[in-house]
Amino acid sequence: MKVLLIGNGAREHIIAERLAEDSELYTIMSKKNPAIAQLSKKHWICDSENPDEVAKCITGHDFDLAFASPDAVLAAGVSDILEKHGILVASPLKSAARIEWDKAFMRRLMLENKVSGQIKYQLVNHIEDARKAIMEFGEVAIKPVGLTGGKGVRVTGDHFTTIEEGMTYVTEVFKKDGQVLIEEKLIGEEFSFQCFSDGTRIAVMPPVQDHKRAFEGDIGPNTGGMGSYSTGKLLPFLEEKDIEQATKILQETVHAMKKNGTPFKGVLYGQFMATKNGLRVVEFNSRFGDPEAMNVLATFEGSLADMLLSITDGKIERAKFSNKATVVKYLVPEGYPDKPLKDQPVTIDSTVMERIGAKIYYASVYEKEGAIYTTGSRAFGILGVADKLEDAEQIAEEGCRYVQGKIWHRKDIGTKELIEKRVQHMKELRNM
Ligand code: AMP
Ligand code: GLY
Repeated sequence: MKVLLIGNGAREHIIAERLAEDSELYTIMSKKNPAIAQLSKKHWICDSENPDEVAKCITGHDFDLAFASPDAVLAAGVSDILEKHGILVASPLKSAARIEWDKAFMRRLMLENKVSGQIKYQLVNHIEDARKAIMEFGEVAIKPVGLTGGKGVRVTGDHFTTIEEGMTYVTEVFKKDGQVLIEEKLIGEEFSFQCFSDGTRIAVMPPVQDHKRAFEGDIGPNTGGMGSYSTGKLLPFLEEKDIEQATKILQETVHAMKKNGTPFKGVLYGQFMATKNGLRVVEFNSRFGDPEAMNVLATFEGSLADMLLSITDGKIERAKFSNKATVVKYLVPEGYPDKPLKDQPVTIDSTVMERIGAKIYYASVYEKEGAIYTTGSRAFGILGVADKLEDAEQIAEEGCRYVQGKIWHRKDIGTKELIEKRVQHMKELRNM
């Protein structure tokens, strides 16, 4: 098959790697990812968030299948333009990706269709209503309705304390967007649960826990994600019934989207909070998680191209995974996320990496005169895969040592100590 992939991060690097196993890969990137370029038979560099630019790239080319990956590309309607070109598309149309780019739409969809896992929320269109909502809910999450790369949410106790501080952020968002979403604060443990959806049926992937906060011990600002782990089965702080409930919520959401006239074909990613009262939906994403894609695609068995094809023909079957544990650690530039050092050279000892079994996925880096340089964003995802979680963690950690430059990573991701904290936290909540 000739498969077209759109995107250029570490998430897309592993998608590209899996697609290139049995397909001829073509890619469109907004910035050249040297590793993805190497896997591609042909690549184009253009503003991939502009459907017209994407259309220009592919004019005169035929593809059997296309997959647009990043949130902003989906929100721009790139799947729609690919479909208009007569290509089978395994990523959601703009109207379906709305479940991610319009958080008010998502909450309303859940409410109107009685999807489980709902929370108290208010979409504020008049700023005076915000204060009332904050007073009513007590602790809250304040968020812009649209896409913010995971960095737009401010939570009581984590990012601010007083109502006035909350209102300062409300005002800031309101000035930009003319609306703001206020939600009750959820307390519990978060996890990501993704599925392939053909518009009607779903095939679920193993649950993963991402780490959004910048610094060790889960402190500091939110980031795009600093790393993630999966046991390949249940996460240590979850119970079997949590996964049953998460599956039910994803399935109900896919049904709701169909009923709404916006069938969801692609990868649907539920961000869940396991609370003392059961699962609640933090958000839905219309794509693979980044870094979560590295956890699930490292253990996905079979042909990813075939799985994506089954999204388009409505014939999804169960997805199979090897059940191995995976740990991803993101290497980020010094000073990330607030004041990242840019344009720093890095060297990668690929021979040793290969020997220890660590894999490296290129995120935001560029190549100049044969050397690799960082930008201001996350640079590489380092992946370890093993039967046991502690071994996967060791491999990823050791792998990080063989990339040298002005970069750092969270050493605590996937470690026993941090996971034990999560297990204890959940135990306390469930016993309350
Ligand atoms: P989002 O961009 O919606 O994924 O939010 C980013 C992060 O903010 C989430 O991963 C949570 O850690 C946090 N967050 C979002 N909504 C809530 C909420 N209602 N309660 C507590 N934390 C939240
Ligand atoms: N891992 C967070 C995200 O992809 O949104």
